[in-house]
Amino acid sequence: MIKMRVTTGLKKLDRLLSGGLPEKSVVLLSGGPGTGKTLFALNYLLEGARNGEKCCYVSLSEYDNELVKAAESIKSMSDIKKYLGKNLVIENILMSASNLSMGRFVDLISKYPKLDRIVIDDVNKMLIFSDTEKSYRAYLAQLVSSLKSSKSALLLCETEGDEKIDSGNKEAYECDGIMQIVFLDLEEKPMRSLIIHKMRYTSFDPKVPHELKISSKEMKLTETKII
Ligand SMILES: Nc1ncnc2c1ncn2[C@@H]1O[C@H](COP(=O)(O)OP(=O)(O)OP(=O)(O)O)[C@@H](O)[C@H]1O
Ligand SMILES: [Mg+2]
Repeated sequence: MIKMRVTTGLKKLDRLLSGGLPEKSVVLLSGGPGTGKTLFALNYLLEGARNGEKCCYVSLSEYDNELVKAAESIKSMSDIKKYLGKNLVIENILMSASNLSMGRFVDLISKYPKLDRIVIDDVNKMLIFSDTEKSYRAYLAQLVSSLKSSKSALLLCETEGDEKIDSGNKEAYECDGIMQIVFLDLEEKPMRSLIIHKMRYTSFDPKVPHELKISSKEMKLTETKII
């Protein structure tokens, strides 16, 4: 099946994925703390917002001003305020403060107006507010299915340790794609790298790490293949 592609905001990544993420896919982006998940997601939404797409960042932990500050600290993302409140919306849903269960959260998301791009940061927070692991899995499946009404969706997942690609609750099976950001311990210095583990409807080199550079100028995937 040929799928339309959604550009990611990283040119090299689009090339690796035959043009971008497959349309109507829910992709899990996992990684340890500080690997760059949030910045990747902001960059991906900005890519859509600049093309006039309707984009939404659902943050379960950080406040919108913190996210705006993070984007503005990088030159290539410093135009964020141009779109904010227009076709790019940041929603803070603090589940603890609003005493929101995962079931109600999933219900809330399913009632959102139709979006082109949506990010949920992150799945671990939803896990805390689900009653049991079994109900988490069921609600996650429901969430993934409702996210498919948007053109493209990213679920962020904080992992411990570089081997893991999900929180241990099988998010990886529910999603259409899995990408991971890890720090590889090379001889000179650790290198931030992006690995594609799974991408339905797409031909790609699985598990090959590519260097992901974050600087005050831009976020960029380089040509460097680390083998
Ligand atoms: N302006 C900047 N210039 C260079 N590097 C930056 C800049 N802003 C952020 N970074 C890098 O990006 C990292 C933070 O990225 P980000 O917040 O996206 O990570 P994360 O994976 O979402 O982390 P967390 O698990 O804490 O949510 C910082 O630790 C830093 O290494
Ligand atoms: Mg983050």
